[in-house]
Amino acid sequence: MKLRYLGHAAFEIKTQEKTILIDPFLKNNPKACAKPEDFEKVDLIFVTHAHADHLGDAPQIAKRARAKIIAMYDIAQWLTENFGVETIGMNYGSANIEGLQVIMVPAWHSSSFEGKTIGNACGFIISTEGKRIYHAGDTCVFSDMKLFSDLYRIDVALLPIGGYFVMDVEQCLKAVELIRPKVVIPMHYNTWPLIQANAQEFKEKAEKLGVKVALLEPEEEIEV
Ligand code: NI
Ligand code: MN
Repeated sequence: MKLRYLGHAAFEIKTQEKTILIDPFLKNNPKACAKPEDFEKVDLIFVTHAHADHLGDAPQIAKRARAKIIAMYDIAQWLTENFGVETIGMNYGSANIEGLQVIMVPAWHSSSFEGKTIGNACGFIISTEGKRIYHAGDTCVFSDMKLFSDLYRIDVALLPIGGYFVMDVEQCLKAVELIRPKVVIPMHYNTWPLIQANAQEFKEKAEKLGVKVALLEPEEEIEV
């Protein structure tokens, strides 16, 4: 499958059968390499929490591309009520959704939209075509990352490094030790001045821990 970075925490996964988006924040994203209108055929959209830099353009894309949004149950219900989109609500646990194994894991973070708390924040471990991708969402480091990576061997981990609202480089290096993925792609940094991070420093230090780090510019993709 192909994994393409769209900027900030947004990714596109293309398998043989499906096009999947995660946290498609595009329109107001200064680093986005794509527009919501670019996505005409999408099957599933994963949303880690309701903050605008993650929910982003998910409702608009879902309507246009007839995609289903997978989110925490409470967020999914709110999306259906407010935006009239088709959703699949789940909670921390595991589900089989259209041939994918989807594990929803905690993320230590809040979840709100226009000042109102909606559901909780999560990360996703998505398995398809024999590979597992972990999108951590917005979170600090926490020791249960090890528990989940023991249960579900992670091939590619998408981890925030920008600090302030999420892990910084130092915390993320600890997360890498706990998760031990084959490849790490740092995200959620340098979108705005408040979340600047030295990705090169992260790469050098993480590679000393024995993982491969792919520093992707928006639009770049890797084969998983
Ligand atoms: Ni957030
Ligand atoms: Mn965020």
